[in-house]
Order: sequence, then structure tokens, then C-alpha cells
Amino acid sequence: MTIINKNRRHFLQHAAIGLTATTFPALLQAKSNQIKSAPTQGFNPDIEIEMTARKAYISILKEGPNTQVQKYYAKLLKGPRQAVQHLKGNYLGPILHFEKGQKVRIYFKNKLSEPSIIHWHGLHVPQKSDGHPMYSIDSGERYVYEFEVKNRAGTSFYHSHSHELTAEQVYQGLAGLITVTDDDEKKLGLPSGEFDLPLAIQDRTFNDRNQLRYLQGMHGMHGRMAGFLGDTILVNGQPNVEFSVKSRAYRFRALNGSNSRIYKLGWDDGTPLTAIATDAGLLEKPETRPYIMLASGERVDLWLDFSNRPVGSKLVMYSLPFSGAMPPMFEKMQNRKGGMGGGMMSGGLAQGAKFPIATFKVTEKVSDSPKLPARLVKFERLTERDVDNAHDPLPIAISMKPMAPQLNGKSFSMDQVMDIEKVPLGSIKKIKIFHDHGKKKQEHGMGMMGRRMSGGMGMMGNRMGMMGGGMGMMLSMAHPIHLHGQQYQIISRKMDGMRKDGYETVKDGFIDTGWKDTVLVMPGEEIEIIKPFQDFKGFFLYHCHNLEHEDMGMMRQFYVS
Ligand code: C2O
Ligand code: CU
Ligand code: CU
Repeated sequence: MTIINKNRRHFLQHAAIGLTATTFPALLQAKSNQIKSAPTQGFNPDIEIEMTARKAYISILKEGPNTQVQKYYAKLLKGPRQAVQHLKGNYLGPILHFEKGQKVRIYFKNKLSEPSIIHWHGLHVPQKSDGHPMYSIDSGERYVYEFEVKNRAGTSFYHSHSHELTAEQVYQGLAGLITVTDDDEKKLGLPSGEFDLPLAIQDRTFNDRNQLRYLQGMHGMHGRMAGFLGDTILVNGQPNVEFSVKSRAYRFRALNGSNSRIYKLGWDDGTPLTAIATDAGLLEKPETRPYIMLASGERVDLWLDFSNRPVGSKLVMYSLPFSGAMPPMFEKMQNRKGGMGGGMMSGGLAQGAKFPIATFKVTEKVSDSPKLPARLVKFERLTERDVDNAHDPLPIAISMKPMAPQLNGKSFSMDQVMDIEKVPLGSIKKIKIFHDHGKKKQEHGMGMMGRRMSGGMGMMGNRMGMMGGGMGMMLSMAHPIHLHGQQYQIISRKMDGMRKDGYETVKDGFIDTGWKDTVLVMPGEEIEIIKPFQDFKGFFLYHCHNLEHEDMGMMRQFYVS
């Protein structure tokens, strides 16, 4: 394609959606400015932590050699002992326990041989402490984070966020949990201590020498579009996890820390699941569902009550079967027994396959257990009356071009924001997240390109052609959309009816009544959210939390000013 065409295509896209972009060249220099990254005089932290990322060798599989990973280590320099909970012999980073109102300073030291930066997913912190990839530091450098914990009680996590390295670094181990507590939570008497446990779920693939295998060769190509899917499920950094529990209620903080796998959490015996929190916050009241969907980046705090279970009984938490999350063509190949999908694109464990996640074995009878509170916390329910753009929502348009999943028709660019991405500080905005493909695109020349690609792809192309719709439609899949900064509320979901069958298998598992920072958008789905942009000016990312997509550029940023 000639440059003229390319420019013309860009021009048409801009003209059509009315987008103009502003460039902030200073952002590209952030790297050199941030050498100034030093503790601020006058910021007196309650907690001070030194975090280091480095290579490590950890025994993950029970037999055979240790696995080489990248791991966060933490040293508590100041503050209450319980702020840092080390997980011995685990590739996951230590669990950080914060309290609302605490001031935190973290020195991050990069001892990897490549650039890295940490993002505190779920925490509402200033731009400079949010782990924007512009702040990536090189091997041997240090970065200083300072923030006050503004969040309500809930579960967040931290992970690496260096552009184009995020997926692989998270895969190699660079992630850890964060809990936040506050006074409202303390009044509830929820399970605590040994009864408040993490349930970080990740999938990995190991080679025959116990080493992690990421996307390679042809797998790489398909894998990046579909997202990495491993064949070994790890919970809290271990395979085949079995929890010994007492006959009482527990709080399990489930995190989907996988690159792209989506879980449909459910009990083997059909017992429903109860959630008390989503993403970074407690719900107003518990929500009980036959199963709960958990996409990459999402959290859900589960109330698991073993009170009436006899000693010796075992419950298995599964990821139950579902469909509709992958492009129709991929799904067909995945399901064809012995087909390329099973082996090549998913390492044998397809997106939507059924598999066990963890076993819970009741080993001790106890007589008392906390009761599930009927009401949890109070918070303001945001409605269209709170926003200043009820009739003109900010768009987050999802599109899948071959090898280029994008948002609002563009790939990530460190130093650019479009007009539609500029948000006044303090405003509360309605945002519409939707799939953008099909007819409109063809007017911009995408249809042509799609057809040409299809033609060149032989049988696969024919099938796409036969099914109508553009290439974008054929590549339509589920995307967990994450917005940095403050949590938002989901106000509506609409399905266009195209892929209803799959949707039926997931739709009862979405909990939309609480605060969210990541939402799974199924193919054909349109979701409206309301998000406040308060407290901090600057650049705040929004992206697909399928980490392969994120690294392929399915990320943009809001500029709050
Ligand atoms: Cu957990 Cu910007 O992501
Ligand atoms: Cu985040
Ligand atoms: Cu995506």
C-alpha cells in the first residue's frame, strides 16, 4: 500500500468520525525526565516498600527442575509488618495489604535485563504513579511511586506494564495481589486472617524441562490474535491446588491473572456461587449466581461457605464450558477433535473448555461461622443524571483488523490523544463500549482490504466470504476492556443478536451491580458505563486486558485536564 493511500485512509477515518489528534512530544521524553524520579520532600509515607523485579528459579511443578521466572520481591522499609505478605517459593509477587487513607511510597528497582514498570491495577493513583508505559525504566534503574490509598475496601493487583512487554512479563510471573481495607469493611465482620485467602488463577504451558513456553512461531501468530491459552492451570502459583478448609465461611479473592483465558467459575455439584465484591470494591449486597464469569484483569471476592459440609467432603471449583468468546472460525477449529485449534492455538485447552481449577476439602469441623451479611456497603449509584454527556457518550469502539486489534480505530501511540479522549478533570462521563465492524468500515476501504485478504487465504477466506460481513466481523471476539483510574459502574448491556447461542452460556455470570475497572465485552455486545474522572490530571490508559491484544496496540489513553 502506498503512503498516499495510507494517509488517505487515515484522513477518511478522521473525517468520518470527526477525530483530530493532539500530539504531546514531551511524553516521548518522559523517560529522560523521570530520572528525576526521587522521593518527594514533604510526602510522609505510612508505608515504604522496596520492590525488585528479577529473574528467579522457582519450583512450580512438583517434580523435575525449577522453572525460570521473573519475580517481584519486596522489602518493607517502613510501616506495619502485615503490609507485605511474602509467598515463599512462589513466583507470584508478595501480597500487599493496604488500608484506605495510607500514604505509600514504593521504590521499584528493575533488575531484569529488559525495561519494565509496575502498574497498580485497580488503585486510583496519580498519573506518575500509575505505571504508564512512558515511565518504563531500563535494567538497573529505579522508579519511585507515591500515592495515597483512595480506594474503598477491595481486591486489586499489580503487574508489569511496559508496552509490548506486558504480556510476556506477566506471563513470566510479574504480578501480585493487593488488598485494601477500610472502616466500612471492618464493621462487617467478614472472614479474615486464615479465612480470607487469595485465588489467583493463571494458565501456563510448560515444556518437558519444566520451563515456561510462551507464543512461538506459527503459534505466535494465531496466539497473538486469539490470546495466549496455556494448558496448565495454576492457582496462587501452584498446579492442582487443594485447599484444606474448616466447616465455615471463607472469603476467597479470585483474580484472573491470566493473559487471555476467561474463566466461568462454578461448583462441580451445581451449588451456586456468592460474590461480595467485584474488581476493587465490596458490593451493596451479596450476589448469588449459578456461575461467575471472570475475564483477564477482573476480580471477584467469593463467599464460600462450607458450614454444612461434612468433614472429608470435597468440592471442586471448575471453569465450566462456554462458547462465543472466540471468533467463529477459531471456535470451530478449537472444537474439531484433533484439529489444529486444539493443539496449535490453545495448547490443548480451548477457550471455553471445562476443567477443574481447585479442590476444597473440608478437614475440620468448627461450630461457628460468620453469617453472610444481607447488606455490605453503601455507595452512590451513578445514573445518566450524573453525567454531562448522556446523549453523546464517549466511544470505545472495538475493532479487529488482521493482526491489529484496535480501539477507536487506532493503535496505541504513546504521545497522542484524540479529541474524543480529552476529558475535563472532575467530570463524570457516560462511555459506550461496542464492536465496530461491518458496513461502515467498508466505506473507508476496510471492506476492500478484508476481501482481498480473504481471497488470499484460500479455504478460510471462502468460509469467511460465505458467512458475509467483513473481516472485522469474522474476527469478532470477546475483549475484557480495562480503564485505568477510578472505577466505573455498568449501566446497560445490549446484544445485537448475532451470536446469541454463545451468549446464553455466559450471560448469567456477569455481576454488574458494583464498581468495576474491567468489563468483558462479548461479540455483538454493547455496554454502557459511567466513569468519574476525578482527582488527577494526566494520561490514563484504557485497553483490552487480553494482554496479547494490549501489546499489539489495543490500547489508547484519556487525557484528563
Ligand atoms: Cu491490568 Cu493497564 O492493566
Ligand atoms: Cu489497570
Ligand atoms: Cu482484546
